[in-house]
Amino acid sequence: MKAVWIGVVAASALLLIGVVQANQDLAKSSGCMNCHTVDKKLVGPGFKDIAAKYKDDSGAVASLAEKVKKGSKGTWGPIPMPPNVAVSDANIKALVKWILTFK
Ligand code: HEC
Repeated sequence: MKAVWIGVVAASALLLIGVVQANQDLAKSSGCMNCHTVDKKLVGPGFKDIAAKYKDDSGAVASLAEKVKKGSKGTWGPIPMPPNVAVSDANIKALVKWILTFK
């Protein structure tokens, strides 16, 4: 019985880790990590800074998803983010939700 529970706990821990890595991988394969990092500014703002900026904005997922899709300029500085046309709407939304967890 004990062994079964250890198995269950181990399996759910693996699942949790799987979710985090899937998003980091998705961000990489979607090209986001060419310009962003989690905790510091690269070409674009760090994901922690983005999450902090929008932490009280309940509409942030929708508005940021729109900006990632169509491009953004002038919010963080002079460098614009080009439209991310190759990334699906569902993936953009998942990525924005993931970014907003870094607060
Ligand atoms: C070519 C470089 C580049 C790529 C690729 C890129 N970004 Fe950006 N990103 C930027 C820059 C530069 C800004 C700041 C734009 C501004 O000041 O409005 C930004 C801003 C953002 C913001 C904040 C927008 C706001 O209005 O506050 C989010 C969220 C974001 N990026 C997510 C993503 C995601 C998700 C991807 C991948 C699908 C991605 N970025 C790909 C350069 C990039």
